[in-house]
Amino acid sequence: MHNEIEKVLISEEEIQEKCKEMGAELSKEYEGHFPLAIGVLKGATPFMTDLLKRMETHLEMDFMDVSSYHGGMESSGEVKIVKDLDTKVEGRDVLIIEDIIDSGRTLAYLVDLFKYRKANSIKIVTLLDKPTGRSADIKADTVGFEVPDEFVVGYGLDYQEKYRNLPYVGVLKPEVYGG
Ligand code: PRP
Ligand code: MN
Ligand code: MG
Repeated sequence: MHNEIEKVLISEEEIQEKCKEMGAELSKEYEGHFPLAIGVLKGATPFMTDLLKRMETHLEMDFMDVSSYHGGMESSGEVKIVKDLDTKVEGRDVLIIEDIIDSGRTLAYLVDLFKYRKANSIKIVTLLDKPTGRSADIKADTVGFEVPDEFVVGYGLDYQEKYRNLPYVGVLKPEVYGG
């Protein structure tokens, strides 16, 4: 698997160090609160587990799976719930955890949904941000790293469901795409 990677963009050490930093920051922000940490399946799971280990407040974990419809070349922007939360959002301090924000549509949908469900507060933490991809008006409260306009895999991010288990974030060799 590792020999299919052209270059490592963010190393395992850099990611772990960032998780520590972000965890410390979030521990302060949520001190005395009991946030509801929501991981967006599947990509957010490695980051979620490493980040939450660094948080020193009590918290509740839940997961949501959504999918966006892709009609032809462009995503339609429509998002569908594949797996909903088990937890009630009303009155809760919601912390949405993502691996990457690209167009921003996934998060725009989730933020609207949690507002509609009367969350007390909503924060977004993402490991990666690709600002060049943005079409929805969405911004994370906490960003780990900005990534260039390249297709990245690893640490949750997949290409055809593979590479999520890489401990780093990297770029695939072009031949892997069948090029
Ligand atoms: C990817 C990624 C984010 C989303 C970002 O998930 O993990 O959740 O896309 O894209 P956006 O900002 O353009 O909405 P995907 O839908 O591929 O599901 P996955 O996490 O299961 O891979
Ligand atoms: Mn995802
Ligand atoms: Mg994906």
